[in-house]
Amino acid sequence: MSKLNETDIQGFVLRGYNLPFARYLFLHFEDSARARALVGRLLPVITTGQRWDHGKPQSTANIAFTHRGLAAFDLPEATLLSFPVEFLQGMKDRAAILGDTGINAPEHWDKLWLDNHVHAWLGINGQSPEAVDARCSQIQALMQETGGAMQLAWQDAAAIMDDGKPTSREHFGYTDGFGNPDYLGVERSTQPGQGKLMPDGTWAPLATGELLLGYADEAGELPVAPVPHILACNGTFMVYRKLHQNLATFRAYLEERSAQYGGGMEKLAAKFIGRWRDGTPVELSPDWPDPAIVQDPNRNTNFTYGADPQGTRCPIGAHVRRVHPRDAFGFNGRLIDRRRITRRGLPYGRPVPEGEPASDAEDRGIVFMALNASLSRQFEFVQQQWIEYGNDAHQGNDKDMLIGNHRGHGKFVVQGDLSATNPPFLCTHLPNFVELRGGDYFFLPSITALGMIAMGLVDPR
Ligand code: HEM
Repeated sequence: MSKLNETDIQGFVLRGYNLPFARYLFLHFEDSARARALVGRLLPVITTGQRWDHGKPQSTANIAFTHRGLAAFDLPEATLLSFPVEFLQGMKDRAAILGDTGINAPEHWDKLWLDNHVHAWLGINGQSPEAVDARCSQIQALMQETGGAMQLAWQDAAAIMDDGKPTSREHFGYTDGFGNPDYLGVERSTQPGQGKLMPDGTWAPLATGELLLGYADEAGELPVAPVPHILACNGTFMVYRKLHQNLATFRAYLEERSAQYGGGMEKLAAKFIGRWRDGTPVELSPDWPDPAIVQDPNRNTNFTYGADPQGTRCPIGAHVRRVHPRDAFGFNGRLIDRRRITRRGLPYGRPVPEGEPASDAEDRGIVFMALNASLSRQFEFVQQQWIEYGNDAHQGNDKDMLIGNHRGHGKFVVQGDLSATNPPFLCTHLPNFVELRGGDYFFLPSITALGMIAMGLVDPR
């Protein structure tokens, strides 16, 4: 396949910017003409997927809309109705399907998400807080000049720092950001373990249509997309979820349970996720973290579970094994190629170093964003079947250990062998380590589509 037209695709879709600071603005449109004028003025500011031959920019800006946001531009009815139903409904109305019930139910979300006013997400990433502020002021000035949008709220996020240097750690202390899929035509340094597994054991990029609308997907079909084709092409759908992390609960649970576990605390922490806290895959190094593997791009995502059917090395219910089972369900991984998501996002809130007192009440967690061509087939399936249910992995009703909505009743089986340091172990009475605080589904259009929206030229015929 030839290279994609990367100047027509928003940069946020094609690459994780790896910029340590971010601010997400949430906008509301009051008047369609003024909203279109704003999009027109924003167009030159939006970061595309064009290569950064002269190094990273100081900051980036990207934009996406909820279905209500698209309706606020007065797009034709036939276009609005042609979007997939889950996007039309929005994340709040999908709560029952997603398992967003109990403490995760919409009534407990931040107020921002409750009254259906969010029309647009404007994502700014930057090398420094000052660069983010500067870009934000530039955009706010455009909002004022055009009267195109009201800013409802914003969310700051930032990489956790070590001696002033950004890390890819999240608040529970794990290194994140290894596993993201490769797609055909998307230029990035490909790594074994990131695409799809081939019959000869090598890895190949996934079909472009698993990420972008307008291209063939793994079934050789065009993903379901709105009309006209040119509005959809080079666009994608984004999930935004603000995931609060109960740090005190996590630390206390790990400490208490690991006191009875023969492998010790760090090993139990590694079993939860399927990676040691430094990122070493448990499947490759079950007994200790191995920095040489973490630093080796040929190894740090290059593993499968086929030789570990009992979960003796990496538990069957470990987070990474559940959300990306690789070959664990047989058929050489073919069953999972259509369930892949591309993760973006950063931690928010104050980090608390290990050993210092932490509280659950403080506002901290991960701004989880995922991109996929089909919200229902990809993100929603992973969330519903692999995170909130365990049947595919033969784990009955067990939910994802780390992010499942356990309500104090959850359990997690750590499979083991007969050795003293890798015994079978049961974690019961799982609390919610993570809680949902709100979010929605967004459409991230191409640059062409943004231009069409700005000019009022969307014609479904
Ligand atoms: C607070 C919430 C979460 C935390 C702390 C968390 C943590 C982690 C960590 C530490 C990793 C291992 C690093 C890596 O492989 O890149 C990981 C991987 C992953 N997570 Fe999560 N995660 C969270 C939420 C989610 C959610 C909501 C989803 C999906 C709906 C998800 C899907 C994935 C996927 C697909 C991978 C890559 C697995 C692989 O390719 O092997 N995570 N996560």
